[in-house]
Amino acid sequence: MPHDTIVILDYGSQTAQLIARRVREMHVYCELLPWDASAERLAALNPKGYILSGGPASVYEPGAPTLSRAVLDSGLPILGICYGMHLLARELDGRVDAAARREYGQALLSVTDPDLPLFRGLPSELTVWMSHGDHVAVLPPGFAILGRTSNAVAAIGNAVAGIYGVQFHPEVQHTPLGRELLHNFAVDVCGCRPDWTPVNFIEETVDAVRAEVGDGHVICGLSGGVDSAVAASLIHRAVGEQLTCIFVDHGLLRQGEAAQVIETFKRHLGMRLVAVNAAEDFLSDLAGITDPETKRRRIGARFVRTFEAAEAEALAGRSSAGRARFLAQGTLYPDVIESASRADQQSARTIKTHHNVGGLPEDMAFGLIEPLRSLFKDEARVVGEALGLPEEIVWRHPFPGPGLAIRIVGEVTWDRLETLRRADAIFLEELRAADLYRAASQAFAVLLPVRSVGVMGDGRTYADTIALRAVTTDDFMTADWARLPYDLLARASNRIVNEVPGVNRVVYDISSKPPATIEWE
Ligand code: XMP
Repeated sequence: MPHDTIVILDYGSQTAQLIARRVREMHVYCELLPWDASAERLAALNPKGYILSGGPASVYEPGAPTLSRAVLDSGLPILGICYGMHLLARELDGRVDAAARREYGQALLSVTDPDLPLFRGLPSELTVWMSHGDHVAVLPPGFAILGRTSNAVAAIGNAVAGIYGVQFHPEVQHTPLGRELLHNFAVDVCGCRPDWTPVNFIEETVDAVRAEVGDGHVICGLSGGVDSAVAASLIHRAVGEQLTCIFVDHGLLRQGEAAQVIETFKRHLGMRLVAVNAAEDFLSDLAGITDPETKRRRIGARFVRTFEAAEAEALAGRSSAGRARFLAQGTLYPDVIESASRADQQSARTIKTHHNVGGLPEDMAFGLIEPLRSLFKDEARVVGEALGLPEEIVWRHPFPGPGLAIRIVGEVTWDRLETLRRADAIFLEELRAADLYRAASQAFAVLLPVRSVGVMGDGRTYADTIALRAVTTDDFMTADWARLPYDLLARASNRIVNEVPGVNRVVYDISSKPPATIEWE
């Protein structure tokens, strides 16, 4: 069933993805496209309205991103946010100037016409978040000022045409009623039905997977993380026994993780699962290696070989094995989006070689099934819950493919892995006990190659150091260190030095990203 769709054009704002998430949260389907997407691409989505994101440029700058004629000529409602509003003003024969005073942060918006659909149900004064240098100096013909802050024209519109511009950012948390404004635009102005729900998504995806797979066979690599788990569950619901999951235990997982994956998928969910314990192979490949990128490459190469062998085993004797073969992946929407700020993201990505260990060998002759391609991570989690996956898997923090190997600074040995596993488990246990696990985006322990002097009982010790890391982030591109309560840190530290042999010191990492990365290697 096609859903009423809003197209968001990305002009490079850091919050463009957030606009899409907000629209999805109100159960309206939307897609985020680059600002220069072709007219054919826009038309193919058959949208009911457009949102133009903010962006770092100034509309009169040479080479500044422009507004496609196809958008204006469509006659559909448009909401321009910040740079998007400036573009509308310029294209529709108004004028934009550099403001005498740049404006950043919170401001009070006075709405001049609260009865217009965009502001329906909202108070006449709203707290909004501003971040701009330019402002609209001359309104386009047919437009009226709909709201002001003390410093700027902050909302304009032509209600007859359904075209609006706001200088503030309705998508950010600091605009508390911004969601209502976006809802008014998508549902009231554009007339979108809010029917993008997890239940509908599951039904439609199950039908689509069934149609695509036919009587073929699907292989799905499980990593233990939420994405591959949700993808596998959806496909299992669609084709049952025609799915085989492969789980490679590389020995670099957290405490109890391998057993939990096997228990959940094999016993609890009844899936066909080939589980391979290849810890010895991985560890012998890592012997003597201290360079982080070499670790990643060796793990990646061994993973592909192990996966291929497991895949041959999985398909052996399957009646559907000779037919169409598919490989399933838990790719999410943020990996699919060609964002206008992609260039920045790519340079950020190359800082570390991110080998996705749940991923596929390049030379395999498979059709690819990616049932989560249109979902954000929080949507995938909601779908996972609706599919009955256990909470520990649905809400698990992201975990890097190379696992604990990149959380042991220096050489990876079984003893050091065991030390790290114990410390990490204690930290996570305390975090859960304090009900703060979900408040952190990612939390873990790191084993440092640093020994220091301590005193235990009457004796001196010379033992290892554990660093604890917890971060909060929306997109993992930037992150801040989590302000965990001292009491919690004290309990974790105390238990780690008492319960983990060979550790006498615990430190807490208070670095943000950038300049640090989330992982230590
Ligand atoms: P960094 O350390 O680059 O991490 O700030 C950002 C996010 O990516 C994860 N990460 C990885 N994931 N393979 C992966 O699959 C890798 O090699 C890898 N390195 C980092 C990290 O856990 C965080 O969520």
